[in-house]
Amino acid sequence: MSGHVAVVGATGAVGQEFMRVLEQRNFPFEKITFLASSRSAGKPITFKGKTYTVQELKEDSFKGVDLALFSAGGSISKKFAPIAAQSGTVVVDNSSAFRMDPGTPLVVPEVNPQDVHTHKGIIANPNCSTIIMVVPVWPLHKVNPIKRLVISTYQAASGAGYQAMVELQEQARDFLDGKKIAPKVLPHQIAFNLFSHNSKIGENGYNEEETKMVKETHKMFHCNTIGITATCVRVPVLRAHSESINIQFSRPITENEVRDILRSAPGVKLVDDREKNYFPMPLESSDQDDVLVGRIRRDISQPDGCGIDMFISGDQLRKGAALNAVQIAELL
Ligand code: A2P
Repeated sequence: MSGHVAVVGATGAVGQEFMRVLEQRNFPFEKITFLASSRSAGKPITFKGKTYTVQELKEDSFKGVDLALFSAGGSISKKFAPIAAQSGTVVVDNSSAFRMDPGTPLVVPEVNPQDVHTHKGIIANPNCSTIIMVVPVWPLHKVNPIKRLVISTYQAASGAGYQAMVELQEQARDFLDGKKIAPKVLPHQIAFNLFSHNSKIGENGYNEEETKMVKETHKMFHCNTIGITATCVRVPVLRAHSESINIQFSRPITENEVRDILRSAPGVKLVDDREKNYFPMPLESSDQDDVLVGRIRRDISQPDGCGIDMFISGDQLRKGAALNAVQIAELL
C-alpha cells in the first residue's frame, strides 16, 4: 500500500496517462492528490469514477504524501522534488532534472530494477526514446555484449506535451482547409512535415535528446564503453515513438537467436511478418504496454555476422513515461 499518492502535472499528457495506468493496474493507495499550476487549480478531474479537484502545486503540497509521480517539466522538478523528498515523500520524476545525478538512480524495471533501492528520495524515469530502445536492446546485450548502437528516431508530438498533440491536430485541419499555419508549441510545422528534434543543439552538433539516449543508456547498463550514436527526429504522429536500431554485437548472432531472445523478453512483443510486410507501427503500439519489435534482419554491411538491424515502436506516454514510472513505484 502506497498510502498517500500525489500526481504532479496531473493535467498534462503524461499526467493524464499516469491516471490511466494507476487505474488499469489497480495501483494501491489510501488517498490521491492531483497537482498542477495555478491555471488548473480548482478544475475537476475524474479518477476511478470519483471527481477530485486539481490543487495548485505549492511548497507545502507534500505533507503526508508517501509517493509523488512528477511530470510537470524539469524546472518544476528541480524546485519541488527535493522539497518533497525532504518531507519524506518518494519521488519518481519523469523530467531530465536528476537523471544524470550520480546519486539518483535511473531505472527501467526490465533493465536495472536493483538500482531502485539506492534512492535517497528521488528516482529518475529515463527519457522516452531511451526507455523504448533499452527494453529490447538490454536482453540482447546480456547474451551477446553490444559494441555499438546506431539509432534513428521517429518521435511523436506527445513527447512535447499535450499542447503539441493539439497543435498537430489543428495544423492538419488548417492545412487541409488551405489555412495559414503558424507554429506555436513546436518550432516548425509538424502536420505533413518532420524536423530534427526540437531540443537544444550542443557544441558537438548533437541535440539534447540524442545526448540523453547516449548517456542514459550508459548509466542504466553500467557500461560506458558501448558506442552509441543517435539522430532524433520529430514526426507527425500523435503518441508513439518509433526507432530504427542498428546493432554491432561482440560475437556473430543470427536473426533467429535475436527473435528467440526477444520472444521471451519482458515488455517486448514481436511484430515481424515479412510475407505480409507487417511490422511495428505507432498506430498499433499506441495504448500498449509492450514495445513492438520487428524488421529483425542481419546487417549486410557487417560481413562478420555481428550486425543486426531492427525497427521498434512503443507508446511514448505509456512505457516511455507513465507506465515505466508506475512500474518503478511498484518495485518499491
Ligand atoms: P497546467 O495544465 O496547469 O499548466 P504537458 O507536458 O502535457 O504540457 O503538461 C505539463 C504539466 O505540468 C501540466 O499538468 C501543467 O499544469 C503542469 N505545470 C506546468 N507549469 C506548472 C507549474 N508552474 N506548477 C505546477 N504545475 C505546472
